[in-house]
Amino acid sequence: MDLHPNIPLKNFMTMRLGGPALFMAEAQTPEEIAEIYHFANSRSLPVFVLGGGSNVVANDQGFAGVVIHIRIPGFDVIADDLNSTTVRVGAGEIWDETVKRTVDMHLSGIEAMSAIPGTTGAAPVQNVGAYGQEIADSLQSLTAYDSQTDTFVTLQNADCDFSYRDSIFRGSEKGRYVITSITLKLSKSSPQPPFYDALQKYFDDHGVHAFTQEIVRNAVIDIRTNKLPDPKLLPNSGSFFKNAIIEDWKLNELRTSYPDMPAYDMGDGMLKLSTGWLIEQAGLKGKVIHGMRVHDKNSLVLINESAGSYADLANAREEIIGVVRDKFGVQIEQEPLEI
Ligand code: EPU
Repeated sequence: MDLHPNIPLKNFMTMRLGGPALFMAEAQTPEEIAEIYHFANSRSLPVFVLGGGSNVVANDQGFAGVVIHIRIPGFDVIADDLNSTTVRVGAGEIWDETVKRTVDMHLSGIEAMSAIPGTTGAAPVQNVGAYGQEIADSLQSLTAYDSQTDTFVTLQNADCDFSYRDSIFRGSEKGRYVITSITLKLSKSSPQPPFYDALQKYFDDHGVHAFTQEIVRNAVIDIRTNKLPDPKLLPNSGSFFKNAIIEDWKLNELRTSYPDMPAYDMGDGMLKLSTGWLIEQAGLKGKVIHGMRVHDKNSLVLINESAGSYADLANAREEIIGVVRDKFGVQIEQEPLEI
């Protein structure tokens, strides 16, 4: 176990903000996770689990405990039949490399989630999704360290209680499990239309009529590169807000004033609004608020242009939430987790 004291969290966050962690430890194996917990428990220190730092923001006080940086490797085929291949992937593998490997094997299921920053083990926490796919659709099971019982467990898909950008790992069981590997069951069939609107439009514009996993991956990479800022060049955490979910009566009310408001049916009388659209219509697109720029190509994304601290980010967030609430009466929420 390799423990490092007093490490600035901002160096590990794609938003480039955050004070120091009392200790930072790297886990290359599941057993190291247990050892780190034993150390933290012996000193009554809290633990925070970090993947790629692309969907987390840390405050200026930092973290008075142990941050575990998950580096567990692995990519193995564990089952194969006529229609599908099942792979088990270490939580520390870079997510996009996992996607690339499965695409190179001509497997379908996660190809539309190309070019999403972060690690493989972090993907189920927020039920990562893009262009019509989410990890909940392919994840068969995962293994995790259960810090409550100090054991290693296997959780099946249904145990994770996945919904839009949510799971038990950031909900009811927050802080309990540390994901060590995930098992994905992927299809050998080629991707089939109909595709998610933005992807279909890309194919129409480029005259693409035959589809492979690689064609979908390359299209998504192209769309994302044009719309989302590269965190290596412009610090950001991807979508900073979740798309708001409202009841159908509320949409009917809103559409009397805003007939063009985009909304996606989620079933059970619930609809998903485009928070990016709301922020844009509220006039904030491209604006700099407390050093945070509302990205001019997608208002869901905040870029840390000159924010000196987490406090600036928090002020910008509250201002944007307030403007959207005042204009539309819709409460929007932050997407990245908070340390
Ligand atoms: N829109 C606007 N203005 C904006 C942004 C979006 O009018 O500034 C409109 C678009 O025109 C479109 C709709 O909103 O009609 C949806 O936009 P888009 O397809 O770009 O998707 P999104 O809702 O902005 C979500 C995910 C992304 C994911 C894309 C594609 C969330 C919080 N975000 O974004 O995920 O890549 O769909 O599937 O659900 C992430 O989580 O970090 C992320 C990038």
